This record gives sequence, C-alpha cells and structure tokens, in this order.
Amino acid sequence: MTNFNWNFPTEIAYGNGRINEVGAIAKNHGKKAMIATYERGGFLDPIIDKVEASLTAAGIEFVTFTGIEPNPRAQTIDKAIDMFKAESCDLVIALGGGSVIDGSKYIAATGFSGGLSWDYVVLGDRVPREYTGAFPIISIPTLSASGSECNAGGVLTNAETNEKSFSRSAYRFPKVAIIDPELLTSVPLNITKDSCVDICSHLIEHYLSSHGDSEFADRMTEAMILTLKDNFDKVLNDLKDTEVRGQLALCSIFGWSGLQALGRTGCIPMHSIEMPLSAIYDLPHGKGMTIVIPLYLELMADVMPARWAKLARRCFNVTEQDDLKAAKMLAPKVTEWLKDTGSYMTLSDVNIPSDQFEKMADDVVRMFPASEPNTTNGPRPVTREEIIKVYEMCR
Ligand SMILES: [Fe+2]
Repeated sequence: MTNFNWNFPTEIAYGNGRINEVGAIAKNHGKKAMIATYERGGFLDPIIDKVEASLTAAGIEFVTFTGIEPNPRAQTIDKAIDMFKAESCDLVIALGGGSVIDGSKYIAATGFSGGLSWDYVVLGDRVPREYTGAFPIISIPTLSASGSECNAGGVLTNAETNEKSFSRSAYRFPKVAIIDPELLTSVPLNITKDSCVDICSHLIEHYLSSHGDSEFADRMTEAMILTLKDNFDKVLNDLKDTEVRGQLALCSIFGWSGLQALGRTGCIPMHSIEMPLSAIYDLPHGKGMTIVIPLYLELMADVMPARWAKLARRCFNVTEQDDLKAAKMLAPKVTEWLKDTGSYMTLSDVNIPSDQFEKMADDVVRMFPASEPNTTNGPRPVTREEIIKVYEMCR
C-alpha cells in the first residue's frame, strides 16, 4: 500500500423524512442560509418548499438562489456568490444533484476567500488560487451519483471558454449530509440510469487507474460495484423503493469518498476524456460516461491486463483464467450490462460530430496534462491520438 491520510468529516443524517430536520440542523451552523438549487418549475419544487418551511419553523433566515444548471456554470455561481455576500449569508444549503452541490462548494469557499469561482479550478499548467476557508455547507442530495454530498471535490464549467474542470479543498467538506431516500424516489427513470452509470464509473475508474496494491480497497470497491449492479436492477423495477434508493445513496457516497482507493493513488482518465462532451455539448455527465466507458476499457485492456482481468472476474462474471483474454472480455461484458439496463448509447445518438474529435482531445491533454507531452494521466500516459481513437470508437 502507498501512504495515505484519510478522514470523513461529514456527518450523515440518514432516513426517510429527515429533510424536515434541516432547520434544526442549520441552527448549529449559521444564522442566515442560502438555499442553492435548480430553477423552479420541476419535480423538485415541493422539496424546495419543504426546506424553506423547515428553516422558517426553526427561525433561520434564508434566501433561495435558483438557477444552478446541470454542468454548473462558473458565471452562474459567481452571481450566487454576489447574492450570498449582499444578503450577508453565512451558510449554504445545497439542495440538488452533484451539479448543485459542486456549485455550492464554490459559493461557500469563494464567498469566504474572495475572487471568482473559476480562479480556483485546476487548468493545465496554471497554479489555481487557494482558498483561505469556507462557510459551512449542508448537502441535501436529490440524486445519488457524484458522491459530492460527502466529499471535497467540485466540477465547474466555464460557459465563455467551453472548459470544464475541477478542484478539491478540505475546506469544502459538507458539515452534514441529509440523505433522505424518500427524496431520491422522485428522480425520473432516465436520470436514475445516468446516475447509476456515473457511480459505477467512479468505482471502475479508481479500481483500474490506481498504482499500488490494496486488497482492502479492491474488496471495498468490488462490494460497491456488486451492490450497485444489484440495486440498479431493482430500481429499474421500482423507482419508488426507498430501501433500494438508500443502497444506491451509500454507493454514491462511498464510491468517491477516498475509501474506494485507500492505499492506492490514481487518476481519472475516463472522466478527463468525458469532460469535453459535457463542457462543449452540455451532455449530462452520466450519459457521457456511458458513452466513454466501454470503448476506453476496450482500448486500454492490454495496458494492465491483470487488473482488468481481476475486475472482469470478480464483478462481471468472467471465468477465463488467462489474464489478457479475461481483460479483453471486460469491455464486452460492461457493454452487455449497459444494454441490459437500457443505458447504452454512442456519440452518434447524441449528435456529436466527428470533426470535433481533435479539438476535444486537444482540450483533454491541455487541461489535464500528464508528464509526457500531449498526454493525460491514466494507468500509463494516454496519448492525444488514443483519446481521438476512443471518440472514434464511440461513434
Ligand atoms: Fe462522475
């Protein structure tokens, strides 16, 4: 194992109906809250009403910022930061999916530290600005996908440059995450599918791209992949099953909590390759991952065959004993699984033209460079040409 430091500072308040406790919880963390959420007019409206009612009942002042987009824009987040400061808020309540929670982290930390939200993201060779602190965050995920509800990461899109990137800061761990399975039952089928694939992508990504051996981390990840697959099947039969939604919520949280990679260090090449799809074409992130995963797994199968084979055998029912042969069976098995769950799609399905592939690959190696020129990090450096090949295979 490699050396590591790990903590999990976010308190989880789990259970049906726990959203009604947000007012009481908020009292411990601030005096005036900003509820950050999506535009009104959708299935979240009654949930926003519940949060506002709970805060009112607890005597907590609040303002509500609606309008955070899927793939949250830095420009929108900066407007939220202006409002947060003008209203003298001291607490952010993030009510939504990963996009809202990511955006809320930038509100809380940039509102405290100054400047613009985009100043803090990783961007090629640029040295990002460092936070000096952050206002507290309470996360209320309405979707199980990113793990953002309990981690320190956050992704942002710059609408002016069509760039999408991330940052991580320990200041931005939510203080409390309210995980209410009843809320999660309101997620529609297509978004539920995207989110399950996204959770799986986090688990697979860390499993395959890490260096260092940690059987503990491998077994934790395998358990989460198997739990996810079982409960993905179940949720497709009944979107309203709160027990199933609860299991998926735990896969989301611990699938990108660091627990899945204890004792290994790694990288996220599939996410890097997907970034231009959602940055330029505003494709939902889960759909982008659905497109990229099988072809990436196919292209890179012979790079670390023992690792690919281990995942194929332990989680995707491959019995082949030869490592290279088993490694090459992983992509078809994952494709079969995506088709079985009704998730599979290609770049042609979302009308992304092939004449953009070179520019998309340029963006990846520029924004997420590895040590060798024109590459991004992977189990070994992934070249610009290989990234283009993944896009071409995704057609
Ligand atoms: Fe993801």
